[in-house]
Amino acid sequence: MIRSTALLLSLGVSLIPSTSALSGLVTDPTQVSDQSFDYVIVGGGLGGLVVANRLSENPDISVLVIEAGSDNRDDPRVYDPYQYSVAFNTELDWNWPSSQGRYIKGGKTLGGSTSINGLAQTRGQKAQYDSLSTFLGINGTEGPWNWDGMYFGMLKSEGFSAPNDQQKEAGASSNPALHNTSGPLQVTYPDEIFHGPQQKYFQTVISTNFSVASSPDADDGNANVVAFHPNTMSWQDSDHRSSSATAYYSPVAERSNLAILLQHLATKIRFDGNKATGVEFGTSNGDRYTVNANREVIISAGAIQTPALLQLSGVGDPALLNGLGINVVANVSGVGKNLQEQTMNSVGWTPIEGFDFQGRGPSDCIAYPDLLGLTSSSNNDIASTISTNIGKYAQDAYDAGAVVSVEAASAIFAIQQGLMIDDHSGLVEAFFDSGFPNGGLGIDLWQLLPFSRGTVQITSTDPFTYPNIDPRYFSADVDLKIQIAGLRMARKIFQTAPLRSIVTEENAPGYDSVPEDGNGGSDEDWSRWIVDGFSSVHHPIATCSMMSEELGGVVGADLKVYNTENLRIVDASVLPIQFSAHLSATLYGIAENAADM
Ligand SMILES: Cc1cc2nc3c(=O)[nH]c(=O)nc-3n(C[C@H](O)[C@H](O)[C@H](O)COP(=O)(O)OP(=O)(O)OC[C@H]3O[C@@H](n4cnc5c(N)ncnc54)[C@H](O)[C@@H]3O)c2cc1C
Ligand SMILES: *[C@@H]1O[C@H](CO)[C@@H](O)[C@H](O)[C@H]1NC(C)=O
Ligand SMILES: *[C@@H]1O[C@H](CO)[C@@H](O)[C@H](O)[C@H]1NC(C)=O
Ligand SMILES: *[C@@H]1O[C@H](CO)[C@@H](O)[C@H](O)[C@H]1NC(C)=O
Ligand SMILES: *[C@@H]1O[C@H](CO)[C@@H](O)[C@H](O)[C@H]1NC(C)=O
Repeated sequence: MIRSTALLLSLGVSLIPSTSALSGLVTDPTQVSDQSFDYVIVGGGLGGLVVANRLSENPDISVLVIEAGSDNRDDPRVYDPYQYSVAFNTELDWNWPSSQGRYIKGGKTLGGSTSINGLAQTRGQKAQYDSLSTFLGINGTEGPWNWDGMYFGMLKSEGFSAPNDQQKEAGASSNPALHNTSGPLQVTYPDEIFHGPQQKYFQTVISTNFSVASSPDADDGNANVVAFHPNTMSWQDSDHRSSSATAYYSPVAERSNLAILLQHLATKIRFDGNKATGVEFGTSNGDRYTVNANREVIISAGAIQTPALLQLSGVGDPALLNGLGINVVANVSGVGKNLQEQTMNSVGWTPIEGFDFQGRGPSDCIAYPDLLGLTSSSNNDIASTISTNIGKYAQDAYDAGAVVSVEAASAIFAIQQGLMIDDHSGLVEAFFDSGFPNGGLGIDLWQLLPFSRGTVQITSTDPFTYPNIDPRYFSADVDLKIQIAGLRMARKIFQTAPLRSIVTEENAPGYDSVPEDGNGGSDEDWSRWIVDGFSSVHHPIATCSMMSEELGGVVGADLKVYNTENLRIVDASVLPIQFSAHLSATLYGIAENAADM
């Protein structure tokens, strides 16, 4: 022993306990069982594969990723963006039931939700990135949790290709100064981008008649505009989806220090005191194995499964854990609280006879109306509703167990109010759609920044039982008010020339469901239709928020879980508040910054 140690030292090999030589994709659990890796990452989705790629750049560091799903990169349901939604309700989709009969979708496959998502690539409002430091209660000047630091992280991930002449002709434009062309994630516009008049007409109407400025490129932190946005699709590989798997794993699959175990669920984080020593994993037939982590355990299982795994492992609110007979390893009462999910309804209009979309999706033109834009076409008391009711929302969230204290919720909501009112963040997303709903033209509309707060809580010690998910949709009444204002605006947009000239009538909801009263329909009629028919946007976040402990945060600025050692979280659960954007560009930025740590 002594001789071989001396030999190793003389060869310059470090004495970190035996790291596994395992590499590539594996499905046999016995190859991983009782092995040791420097880093064990749970979840091979967005956060997990960015971190796995960056950590394994150093050949002396061994990395294992444990992923519940399979590798489906060669499956057209995954790689073909023109088949968006065919992966839903299949084995590629977690399809978690949530309250009010709504299902939340999430990718259960290598690449996670980036392997089944809608490919829209958008950044949020500058002030929203700066607020990350405010939620932590730190001076954010030095970053990375401010606009500059996140901009750097987002650029690092991006491999952008500017629109070609045909795409420009269809309306796409970009400012090269805002993009990186050499990062791993392929970002561009569809080859067959819609070049009928519809997207340009939408842009014209909303900028001319609804006080939403038109921008040549909305990625500069002024996101409360209407613009053509690119997609996470490959310009090197015929428009195939660029996911965290194709961008961050495929190019480094040959690394000898990086292994991915597929088709196994992480069932528990193993601790020695507060120190994470490894991860237990297994299958639904009851098999259990353990793998050891020399340095750190990193959880990237997404905003639903990450809090569930922490709770199963004894990290969470003692009140919940005690009730299930789970030993408390760390009292971190914010785990599973602060859940924020958005709600969507689609307005649809029937195109005129013979209308040709001229091209194929994904659609490109998106508007993010702020308070001014949203209230430009109808009187609305959104701002006053917020200021009158903020205390009530805080008390209500506390009573529902969705925040750690009334004081914390009040402080969180005050920051949110500032972002919504003073910083002009987009309050709704108006996603212009060719081919949906009902095969016509439409606007998918969702309120972006809900005051409703909810919970993710395990109900059983069986890791294969889904947690109880309650986003408490519309529990804060202003959320519904904003959704109503957005949908009324969507109707009015279609009623306005030149968009009006290419449609005949509204088919969703239709004037029979929500009668036109000369001002876009009544609150009562919209409200009934919204509550009856809304769906989840599949953007759950904030269940292990990066915030101060006083606010109910679960991780600090270093993404380490409070009251534990060497346990970090890198996924959507750390984002403490929704942004006025789709999530993935921001999450790639967080993950790149996390890997730097
Ligand atoms: C239908 C849909 C459409 C979307 N559209 C867009 C869009 O157009 N633009 C955009 O920017 N964003 C979009 N998003 C959101 C974006 O894709 C997600 O927010 C993002 O991928 C979340 O990253 P994550 O790392 O938190 O989780 P994920 O990327 O979902 O990765 C989590 C991974 O962990 C695995 N896992 C979970 N639990 C365990 C466990 N216990 N053991 C082992 N593995 C586990 C999962 O199988 C999954 O692979 C969409 C999401 C969905 C679901
Ligand atoms: C924040 O830090 C910067 C640089 O470290 C410093 O110049 C600035 O004064 C600090 N601001 C506050 C409010 O403390
Ligand atoms: C572009 O991406 C590469 C690869 O991630 C990175 O090295 C480079 O710093 C990025 N450039 C900018 C301007 O961020
Ligand atoms: C939209 O704005 C244009 C330009 O100001 C104006 O001519 C037109 O009448 C407006 N349309 C409606 C429906 O207000
Ligand atoms: C858990 O921590 C919170 C504050 O973070 C505290 O109020 C509570 O009493 C603690 N619970 C237990 C059982 O220690």
